[in-house]
Amino acid sequence: MSRIVNWSRTHRCGEIRKSHEGQKVTLNGWVRGLRNHGNLLFVDLWDRTGMTQVVFDPSHSKELSGGKFHYDAVVAVSGEVKERPEGMKNPKIATGDMEVLMDKGLLFSASKTPPFRTGDKVNEDLALKYRYLDLRRRKDLRENLEIRARVLRVMRTMLDQEGFFEIETPLLYKSTPEGARDYLVPSRIQKGRFYALPQSPQTLKQILMVSGWDRYYQIARCFRDEDLRSNRQPEFSQLDMEMSFVKEEDVFRITEKILKAVWKEIKNETIGDIPHLSCQEALDRFGTDKPDLRNPLELKTLSPEIIQKSDLRVLQSGLEEGNIAKGLFVPQLKLSRSEADRLQDFVKSLGGGGVLWIQQAEKGEWKSPVAKSSAIPLKELFQAGGGKGPGVCFYSVGEISLVNKILSLLMGQFAVQMKLINAQETRSLWVKDFPLFEYNEERKKWICCHHPFTRPQEEDIPLLEQKNFSQVKARAYDLVCNGQEVAGGSIRNHQVQMQRKILSLLGLTEQEMEDQFGFFLSALSYGAPPHGGIAWGLDRLIMLLTGSDSIRDVIAFPKSAGGSCLMSEAPSLPAEEALTELGLTVSD
Ligand code: AMO
Repeated sequence: MSRIVNWSRTHRCGEIRKSHEGQKVTLNGWVRGLRNHGNLLFVDLWDRTGMTQVVFDPSHSKELSGGKFHYDAVVAVSGEVKERPEGMKNPKIATGDMEVLMDKGLLFSASKTPPFRTGDKVNEDLALKYRYLDLRRRKDLRENLEIRARVLRVMRTMLDQEGFFEIETPLLYKSTPEGARDYLVPSRIQKGRFYALPQSPQTLKQILMVSGWDRYYQIARCFRDEDLRSNRQPEFSQLDMEMSFVKEEDVFRITEKILKAVWKEIKNETIGDIPHLSCQEALDRFGTDKPDLRNPLELKTLSPEIIQKSDLRVLQSGLEEGNIAKGLFVPQLKLSRSEADRLQDFVKSLGGGGVLWIQQAEKGEWKSPVAKSSAIPLKELFQAGGGKGPGVCFYSVGEISLVNKILSLLMGQFAVQMKLINAQETRSLWVKDFPLFEYNEERKKWICCHHPFTRPQEEDIPLLEQKNFSQVKARAYDLVCNGQEVAGGSIRNHQVQMQRKILSLLGLTEQEMEDQFGFFLSALSYGAPPHGGIAWGLDRLIMLLTGSDSIRDVIAFPKSAGGSCLMSEAPSLPAEEALTELGLTVSD
């Protein structure tokens, strides 16, 4: 093969156009397609910007025809740009009118036969093991990462204009409670002691406010050892922000500004005013505190009177303390027997007793398993559940959170089935007035809904004295877009007494407070300004912007569903020597 003395590329593979006709160019890239057409060989030469067809006559170079150019080989080619003959043009690619007539070529490096090629259907574990090849072959993954980089750029520019400082905080740190388990890192120098990787930079950013920084942000890596889901990773990124001397409205203003700028840049869409909803109203109307406002379906609570009047045994438990009966009306739905059976099974799989339904057909006739037993006309019960016109009204009865879970899931399923959601649309809202505490059944104690640094609403502070946990609301807020919690934050306990009070209500002794948060309480006692902030789940935001179903599709090197990096096989067994140095032994 003839060597190209200067093999540096003059153009990218996606750049060749008619305007380059007649020019001598050098391209560098990967061999994608290789087609032998009689006495001519066609090579698709690819780099991240696109593909150019290269043509050459193998009789001119024995080595090339002998197989040095092969699939996934990295090569340089040099030659003249020509217009492709009529009938040979490819309108599907930007370079499709042109080709490069190669006169010299160079093999930079060979490739083993790859385990999969562009367009192959590949099992996800195999794709993650060879992530570098998957990133190379999958345009959607590459586009997602490009969008990710652009989003970060918009955010940084906007925050810079607003007077925020980007400040890095340590990863080898102390436990930062955000509701998950910590990843611990053993110290070699202080045997038996461990750092914790931050679940978020929460305490650090608050301490920066004490230091007088006023406006901080960071693209922060967070670590949480929790069960994985399609929108969770053990290691994920936040745009983390904190501001001094602010109220909720100030945080909302800057957050919305960023959201709008990102949507404009990436989707060229204008986001209008963002509504506010209390957590209670969201639960009442949608059964979830992360409602998808694109879905027009809503829930309706049945009044005790209608339950009593109906005299239906299935509805009676809705009258008990802590229970509820709610209806979900799906217009135009026609329920077949098999679908009704499938729904019963689905609801039972969630822990519910079943689901009651009333159907009004197109011509007005009624169908329901309680057609004969209801003491009131079906129409009355149908309307009480939100029914109006032809369609089906579903009723779920029982413990409030279970009823909400069942109906919100059905709401999502029927919206898809009835094509009620416009996938192109973005609908955002602020959810606020969350409870400060929630009772954790497993741990049999009250814990914080958000985190223990959130300030109670001012009018609820007296309730703390009465230990009226369930009634205290928090100055916390979430930004929810299309049913996903994209960002969450709060106004903090800047007064050390209030912070101590919350920690003690959570059951921490003075000693535990000192051990876990002594440094933080100390910082708060040296002149802490009132402050608040928010953190965006960057990966979730990019999922939303790119329409990805899996968080793995927006992260360059994600963990598998089992929490492993299948490419490097982390986590792995450390060398015996490393364990000894750390003073650790591994038991079975
Ligand atoms: P929070 O825990 O609500 O708040 O986290 C903020 C946002 O981070 C995203 N997120 C995740 N994304 C991917 N994988 C995960 N495992 C994961 N967990 C959370 C969500 C969420 O809205 N320190 C507070 C913020 C504050 O109060 O300022 C915090 O971390 O999109």
